[in-house]
Amino acid sequence: MGFFRVKKSILNGNVRISGAKNAALPILAASLLTNDEVIIKNVPDLLDVQTMLCIIRESGRNVEFKDGVVKINSNVSNGTISYELVRKMRASFNVLGPLAAILGEAKVALPGGCAIGVRPVDFHIEGLKKLGFEIEIEHGEVRAKFNKKENEVVISLPFPSVGATEHLMTTAAILNGTTIIENAAMEPEIEDLQNFLNGMGAKISGAGSKTIIVEGVNSLNGNIHEVIPDRIEAGTYAIAIAATGGKGYIEKVNPSHLDALWQVLKDTGTKLEIFEDKVFVDGTGEKRSTKINILPYPGFPTDLQPQIMVYLSVAKGTSTISENVFKNRFLHVDELVRMGADIYLTNGTAIINGVEKLSGAKVEGTDLRASAALIIAGLIAEGITEVYNDYHVLRGYENIVEKIRGLNGEIEHLG
Ligand code: UD1
Repeated sequence: MGFFRVKKSILNGNVRISGAKNAALPILAASLLTNDEVIIKNVPDLLDVQTMLCIIRESGRNVEFKDGVVKINSNVSNGTISYELVRKMRASFNVLGPLAAILGEAKVALPGGCAIGVRPVDFHIEGLKKLGFEIEIEHGEVRAKFNKKENEVVISLPFPSVGATEHLMTTAAILNGTTIIENAAMEPEIEDLQNFLNGMGAKISGAGSKTIIVEGVNSLNGNIHEVIPDRIEAGTYAIAIAATGGKGYIEKVNPSHLDALWQVLKDTGTKLEIFEDKVFVDGTGEKRSTKINILPYPGFPTDLQPQIMVYLSVAKGTSTISENVFKNRFLHVDELVRMGADIYLTNGTAIINGVEKLSGAKVEGTDLRASAALIIAGLIAEGITEVYNDYHVLRGYENIVEKIRGLNGEIEHLG
């Protein structure tokens, strides 16, 4: 199994941000709603994207992916997606509704648990039932069969789930009548999905707010769309530059998608200059502690929680991070403690007592963002750090070795 070997470095320079994984995935799933050609640009070449492309191929559509551009054409003909593909990535489940809407019936495996805790799909299933699908769960698979949709359906989500919001708004786009999603997630990726679907002829409004209104249309056509920049990748590099005490530009980003991060970095002593599509990060000053509440957008993102914890692990004073999205997303804490961090957990909150320095060690990445955090920890730790389970990082960070080296960071990917 591969790993990353990282040495203490000060990151300086410029880094260019790729297209957003979490926007590309639901957009690719939504491309199943038409048999016309769809062209999607600025798609990052990542394991998760490759998994979604395999699913689209399995559905019968033809897929080409070259230089960040995905071209999809030919008809959707198969609505059964194999367990092997769903097991690799939870976002695969989001093809169930679109496939069942276009073919009348579809079957997708239930996604399993994952390292960041139990991640149920009950909101997805309850929502699909409201949209008029009969659902059967048997042998670890979910079968959705379209029956009849009421003219006006209101789905009120118990929690603003990103995946459920995207899955239900996509599926509703080609079902008759109006669908109103209340307590919808407000993440920028949902707005990007709305723009993509509307470009295909859908009538959706409200993405980015708590209420999304979908006026169903009979069919959707092809579209050309460019995916928004990856705010989590941008945030990861901003934190990495700041944590190592370096300076640099995060380029090709939409800074307004990361206001919660900018606030925390400024409050803790990192200087920032924010431009229209880039941000200058100056982490040369002393870092101070803070309190962070992890919340759905526009709150501080859970996908930057492990990375900011590393930054705070060497800040002066005691910080707290309360995780309110994935209560058990703290598996990286034990690994950071092995590197000399002083962190303990109490009731869904991490208490971080800043230490002078971390020390390099062999550590295991448990999920995508935890692994990115351990790489940042390796960049600030004395000596050498080896981050095992490289595939987590490859699921979500395009060209991470080249990008960190471009910032003068010492990192190797070893097989
Ligand atoms: C998406 C992101 C992921 C991010 C997360 C939260 C993608 C591909 N992934 O994941 O990177 O960490 O949003 O910002 O975009 N829940 C239920 N029942 C459900 C669905 C969700 O109880 O049916 C709970 C989850 O367990 C979790 C919370 O809702 O506690 C939020 O999860 P959700 O927003 O759905 O995350 P994902 O869409 O899976």
